[in-house]
Amino acid sequence: MSKKMMIVIALQVLLLVVGIVWYQNRTISDYQAVGRAGKQIYDEACISCHPITEFDNRNLSVEYTKKLVIEGRGVMPKYPEIQEPELSRLAEYVNQL
Ligand code: HEC
Repeated sequence: MSKKMMIVIALQVLLLVVGIVWYQNRTISDYQAVGRAGKQIYDEACISCHPITEFDNRNLSVEYTKKLVIEGRGVMPKYPEIQEPELSRLAEYVNQL
C-alpha cells in the first residue's frame, strides 16, 4: 500500500472517530442548575421545548422525569449538570404541573 493511501485512510478513520464523538455529544446540555429552584430550572432549560401546558395533568412521576433529564431521549438533551438536590426539585415541579 502506498504512503499516500495510508494517509488518506488514516484521515478517514480520524474523521469517523470525530463524527462518532460529535454524534454522541450532540444532545448534551451544559445548563448549570446549582442553587436554582425547580420552576426556575424549568423556565430556563425546559420551557423552550415544553410549553408550560404540555405536562398539565399528566402526572409524570418524579422518577420518570428524573430519568428523562439524566438520559435524554431523541431530540431531548441529557443534562449532566442537573444533579441532586436540584434534579428532585425540578422533577417535583414538573410532577405538580
Ligand atoms: C431541545 C428540546 C428539549 C428540551 C430543551 C427539553 N426537552 Fe424534554 N423532551 C423533548 C422531546 C423532543 C421529547 C420527546 C422525546 C421522545 O419521546 O422521543 C421530550 C420528552 C420529555 C419528557 C417525557 C414526556 C412524556 O410524555 O413522556 C419529559 C418528562 C421531559 N421531556 C422533561 C424535560 C425537562 C424537565 C426539561 C428541562 C430540564 C426538558 N424536557 C428539556 C425535547 C426537549
